[in-house]
Amino acid sequence: MTAVPESNLYDVAVIGAGYVGVPLAATFGEAGQRVLLVDVKPAIIDALNRGESHIEDVSSERLEELVRNGRVVATTDYEQLKQARAVLIALPTPLSRQREPDLSFVESAATNLASVLQRGQVVILESTTWPGTTREVVQPILEQGSGLKAGEDFHLAMSPERVDPGREDWTTKTTPKVVGGINAESTKAAAEVYRAAIDTVHEVSTPDAAELTKLLENIYRAVNIALVNELAQLCDRMDIDVWEVIEAAATKPFGFASFKPGPGLGGHCIPIDPFYLTWKAREFDFSTRFIELAGEVNNNMPYFCRSLISQALNHGARKSVSGAKILILGVAYKPDIGDHRESPAEKLVQLLRNAGGDVSYHDPFVPEFCGLASVPFEPEAYDCVAIVTNHSSIDYADLVRRGKVIVDFRNATKGHEVDGKVWKL
Ligand SMILES: NC(=O)c1ccc[n+]([C@@H]2O[C@H](COP(=O)([O-])OP(=O)(O)OC[C@H]3O[C@@H](n4cnc5c(N)ncnc54)[C@H](O)[C@@H]3O)[C@@H](O)[C@H]2O)c1
Repeated sequence: MTAVPESNLYDVAVIGAGYVGVPLAATFGEAGQRVLLVDVKPAIIDALNRGESHIEDVSSERLEELVRNGRVVATTDYEQLKQARAVLIALPTPLSRQREPDLSFVESAATNLASVLQRGQVVILESTTWPGTTREVVQPILEQGSGLKAGEDFHLAMSPERVDPGREDWTTKTTPKVVGGINAESTKAAAEVYRAAIDTVHEVSTPDAAELTKLLENIYRAVNIALVNELAQLCDRMDIDVWEVIEAAATKPFGFASFKPGPGLGGHCIPIDPFYLTWKAREFDFSTRFIELAGEVNNNMPYFCRSLISQALNHGARKSVSGAKILILGVAYKPDIGDHRESPAEKLVQLLRNAGGDVSYHDPFVPEFCGLASVPFEPEAYDCVAIVTNHSSIDYADLVRRGKVIVDFRNATKGHEVDGKVWKL
């Protein structure tokens, strides 16, 4: 294979400047690599080129230095990808309205990339997707649009992103990267790209194995969360504190991994990714029953939480949901970030509104949500406060003191419980 010319301006290009793409670009830039970030939104590109980051995991201070040193350059122009040694695709892979995989972002980017693809380039898909996507979808688009042959004229691999936004103990740099290419050469070339910036690279034999690795990780979480969500509902009937039980079980030093119940799944990964496998499995006359069952239990949680709010109002304030002033505390899908995609708060707000509740919310990270603006933190002004997301900046002892009825889906009030005032999942 001919190598891409030495005059290349960029070591790595990343298509998609989102939750995955921006931390990836910063990680490569900080390893001394020259990085090109490509996105379709001019406003995002302009801000990135001013050193302003819209992704919490990369502070503007950190990005500003990389931009100033010329390590990270952002553009909307796919032509510039010609000047990159490797191109990583980090684009959304949502579900359609019919809950089927929607690869339109990846397909559209691959079509644009194909028209500028160069001999010797390394193309790596980072998006979470069903096993076979790299070979069956990306490869033909790239080959047809470029006239080049994957594995001969350019390298092609899959390496799923594992970033967990908001997490500080494991970052893009320190989280091992799984890489599988369409042939041994492609695996090697892609692994080399990552070794320049990422501490540990784990090679697998095919892109399909890499794709399924990521799905296994997320299915493992979805299934285990469903297990504790089911247990939480049983504990409610048995009057046992599920949080105490999980904490006790977690003292076992082996054979038990701790998962927490909650008001439902959220985010761009766990509620969506497992269904990519369910969809693909149908092609093989196979039904993924654990995934379906977990989906059923997890999807029911906002309904269960609505009934907890209704009970708490009933017993704690002698009120019904209808006409009650309810404050949802935290609407992001997890603590200390502003991402509210697929957040269970949305379903809960909708259910409470349908029941006639007068719903407001407070979230220091999310200024607008469900057509509402975040209100000031004044728990005493509401009949009920429901803790949906346990942001660490909230003073929960103060909340318990000032609030009338508190429904806690996250065990955030642990140690501050007051009988008849705090109702826990
Ligand atoms: N967010 C996470 O926590 C996370 C973690 C691991 C894996 N993933 C996976 O990574 C992938 C990317 O997710 P994300 O959260 O970074 O998405 P995102 O929505 O944050 O970012 C995607 C970016 O791509 C841009 N874009 C859309 N179409 C484009 C195109 N044709 N060309 C260039 N740019 C385009 C959008 O403007 C947006 O800025 C998904 O498959 C997701 O499942 C996400």
